[in-house]
Amino acid sequence: MQSYKLNNGVEGFEFGTPIDTGALLEKGTPEKIDFKEKMAVGKITTLEFELLPKDRIYGLGEHLGSMNRRGKRLRSYCRDEANHTEDKNELYGAHNFFVHVKEQEQTGFFIDFPGEVVYDTGFQDDKRFTIEIHGKDFRLIKIPGNSIEEIVSRFLQVAGKAYIPPKWAFGYFQSRWGYKDVAEINGVYERFQQEDLPLDGIYLDLDYMEDFKNFTVSRQRFPKFKEFVAKLKRDGVYLVPIIDAGVKIEPDYDIYEEGLAGNHFCLNAQGNPYVAAVWPGKVHFPDFLQSKTRKWFGEKYQFLTDLGIEGVWNDMNEPAIFYDEKNLEEAVDLASDCRGKNLNVHKFFELKDTFANLLNDEDYHQRFYHRIQGKKHPHREVHNLYGDYMTRAANYGLQKHLNKRFLLISRASSIGMHRYGGIWTGDNASWWSHLEENIRMMPSINMCGFYYIGADTGGFGGQCSGELLTRWLQFSAFTPLLRNHSALDTRPQEPYAFSQEVLENTRSILKGRYRLIPYLYSTYMKAVEEYQLFFKPLAFDYGEGYQEIEDQLFIGEEIMLAPIHKKNQSQRLVDLPEKMARITLTDQETEMSLAPAGPQKLSYDLDHLRFFLRENKMIPLGKSAKNVSKLSMKKLEVLAYITNQGEHVFYDDDGISLGNKEKNLMKIRIKSREDFYDIEVKNPHKELETIDFKIINDNGRIQKISYRVKT
Ligand code: GLC
Repeated sequence: MQSYKLNNGVEGFEFGTPIDTGALLEKGTPEKIDFKEKMAVGKITTLEFELLPKDRIYGLGEHLGSMNRRGKRLRSYCRDEANHTEDKNELYGAHNFFVHVKEQEQTGFFIDFPGEVVYDTGFQDDKRFTIEIHGKDFRLIKIPGNSIEEIVSRFLQVAGKAYIPPKWAFGYFQSRWGYKDVAEINGVYERFQQEDLPLDGIYLDLDYMEDFKNFTVSRQRFPKFKEFVAKLKRDGVYLVPIIDAGVKIEPDYDIYEEGLAGNHFCLNAQGNPYVAAVWPGKVHFPDFLQSKTRKWFGEKYQFLTDLGIEGVWNDMNEPAIFYDEKNLEEAVDLASDCRGKNLNVHKFFELKDTFANLLNDEDYHQRFYHRIQGKKHPHREVHNLYGDYMTRAANYGLQKHLNKRFLLISRASSIGMHRYGGIWTGDNASWWSHLEENIRMMPSINMCGFYYIGADTGGFGGQCSGELLTRWLQFSAFTPLLRNHSALDTRPQEPYAFSQEVLENTRSILKGRYRLIPYLYSTYMKAVEEYQLFFKPLAFDYGEGYQEIEDQLFIGEEIMLAPIHKKNQSQRLVDLPEKMARITLTDQETEMSLAPAGPQKLSYDLDHLRFFLRENKMIPLGKSAKNVSKLSMKKLEVLAYITNQGEHVFYDDDGISLGNKEKNLMKIRIKSREDFYDIEVKNPHKELETIDFKIINDNGRIQKISYRVKT
């Protein structure tokens, strides 16, 4: 074992000869440090911690269930999991960072390993936390800290700054698997205009392609595509097409031919390109672990940028596999053996399961190989890097050809990819429980370095109701990535697909979101820059009593959310860890009142946004607009709850240049005097003319002050 000292007291340990995953920016300087944890290195390495009754575990990124991960079995092995039921142990991401919180101290760990890792956080034995690392070559870092937040911040410093999307990526996006042609997409765009619904873009699912071939556009269904992209962009609306991991096997298809000629595909045991099947039928998988393949595939995104595209979603990159030739043949053989037979229970279930298990059978992962610096590795060993490295390839190409910021999200991910793109949480369903999952999952993913995150609002699978969409939007209005996406053959889910009342309510919520964008963008940029969390559980700031509250959370330092996530409820219980100001926000209105600390009922109608503002904090609001390009900074409204004094740094920049060009940090300070407030605005935003302050004090008295920045 070798050990290293990293910044901020972080300790690094290297066991065997690990693959360089590129997860961390820093390796550290060699220094002799003892490794004190209980560990048995072998084919499967086990790490063991004692669990005391009050211990808690946070992190591990994209997983279902509680924020406190205790008492579960969670597997870090990227999986195309189409059905997010409570018993599922893995989803699309593999995020091996967690903080073990004990009564007196807390420690963070990151396991830098590209294969399977299984966490038993007290499921088998509630007194033991065991980690199985499926290999003996890995790195591990150990992060001390005086608080959970400090540990997370130190981790983020060694993992590197998160991906920064353009400002327009903070708008509202409509998506649906099933928009079949340009007329339908244009219809969505026009309907948003007619209904006065804000919109920054429409995602294009796989139907825009020719026969599901990456880097093609169907000429028949999307004629004059470039002109269409330009027309929408002139109005500030972006199209965001999908790219899937598999490359269709089809002679004369340029990507396939180039991939073969350039030796870019993953190989089978015989050294030939491995064949699996996904949307287009048989495909080869680019070997993204080869740097030359990342460059080659990354360059292909130029096909899209040449058409005016500035955002992409990478999908099916765990990689998802419908079947491979061997398993399909065995299944078909079994089925023909069964023909005409009287199947007993065992045979019938064998037949049924054999077909069901074709989808994403992990045996496939033993049958194809990657080459990393010339060395062959079975896919299984490096599985969790696949989607990550596909996204690095896309980032390379998009950056090279756009030379500005772009929207990039991926379904599969591992830590390290957070520097290259965001993630959405995959194929959830239109279930109330999945709205709650969304709330709980955001901080855990954020802790692992990802900031541009969100779920399919309204739910991907299943049938969404107007009420569910409305309530979901009331939460997603605060997530950096805000996309309404639904699956083929489900009930239409656009805000106008329900009743007039749903349309009016969702319009009001979306306009509220656009009023919040200056604040959300500023908070995002500051959080990334300063290695702070965008989403924070109550448990990180408050002790016993608040540790178990997982359906309320903080956004930045200012806001606490308490979304409704149950059906037929117009109110819910909220427990305030401190007194706060209660804010109600619609398109035009803002209301403020005081809320005492402690448990209380919060009524929450369907047509507004309701949240809490912490003491001596303030938030700037803009004016809503039909999309981000039309947001104006001339006039801001600042809502503040001041009992003594508060200071707010408001970040803004041009929202598109790489390297935060033209960044502006405006400092607003409010100091309470007996009967009035001292207001100071330093370094005002160059467009700003007036700020309308609305300040509430401890007696609930509101003062409105109009502050002219330019006279
Ligand atoms: C996958 C994606 C989903 C997409 C579908 C069709 O299931 O997760 O978002 O709509 O594929 O491309």
